[in-house]
Amino acid sequence: MLVDGVTVPHFLYGTAWKENGTKSLVTLALDQGFRGIDTANQRKHYNEAAVGEGIREMINRGLIARKDLFIQTKFTQLHGQDYRLPYDPHSSLSDQVEQSFVSSLEHLGIEFIDCYVLHGPSTRSGLERDDWAIWSAMENIYDSGRALILGVSNVTREQLQSLCEDARIRPRFVQNRCHASQGWDYNIRSFCNANEIIYQGFSLLTANRNLLDHPELKRIAHRCNMDVSQIIFRFALDIGIMPITGTSNIKHMQMDLDIFDFRLNVEDIEMIEEIGSH
Ligand SMILES: NC(=O)c1ccc[n+]([C@@H]2O[C@H](COP(=O)([O-])OP(=O)(O)OC[C@H]3O[C@@H](n4cnc5c(N)ncnc54)[C@H](OP(=O)(O)O)[C@@H]3O)[C@@H](O)[C@H]2O)c1
Repeated sequence: MLVDGVTVPHFLYGTAWKENGTKSLVTLALDQGFRGIDTANQRKHYNEAAVGEGIREMINRGLIARKDLFIQTKFTQLHGQDYRLPYDPHSSLSDQVEQSFVSSLEHLGIEFIDCYVLHGPSTRSGLERDDWAIWSAMENIYDSGRALILGVSNVTREQLQSLCEDARIRPRFVQNRCHASQGWDYNIRSFCNANEIIYQGFSLLTANRNLLDHPELKRIAHRCNMDVSQIIFRFALDIGIMPITGTSNIKHMQMDLDIFDFRLNVEDIEMIEEIGSH
């Protein structure tokens, strides 16, 4: 799919919590066919430099070209970081964003980021002055052409609405944890649908573990000759979610990418939409 002229794959590979395995898992994921990589300059949960090593290795081996990749990373505020900061905490927020961004480019060994994401607002409700300062610095990076698209993560509908109303450059992606019990994050997704924002869903499996054993999902999986996890990812695509997988397992990578060759019928989709809320 094309977003503001940028080719975006339908499925992203997430790089959180992979620590020393990050480089080899990124090369493995690219080798299996993933073309979208999600990371963050947040050493607490991600090893962005190792993501860059993996990408560079694949490019240097001639197995992939930068133009075929969609690379997304994030700016994480101080409260989401540990002691390994990608910026000087005494700098202004706008300088922190710039320092973190430059460090991301260095880690990843690239000259521009496809999508630069605000990892999350400072508070659970509303947008604070700090959030606006950060967003404005992200807009400046966008203006400089070093980030092609902006996105935001871990937002409420109210925060997203406020960002869309008052930001100079609006987010084109939202990345949220997707709970089936909340209508698969229906509140945010419906706002995204109405506002040309693409919804990226994470923890589709881990936030919905109860569904992995659900008899109806098992029945659909059996009929489609697929695994329940594949049914969930396929369902996500069918309702307009761009799924993110965090698997460390080659078989699961292959299974995740195998969901483009089958479809669910309308009754399946309606049933899975409904199932989570019970
Ligand atoms: N913006 C944010 O704040 C935020 C927060 C969390 C995550 N994320 C992003 O989202 C990515 C994914 O996170 P996540 O929470 O969805 O995933 P995750 O926690 O990394 O893991 C998925 C889990 O499901 C298991 N699994 C079983 N079958 C699977 C299958 N067929 N395909 C994939 N996994 C399968 C995996 O095990 P195996 O490894 O054995 O397959 C793994 O334990 C992260 O890496 C990160 O990039 C962003």
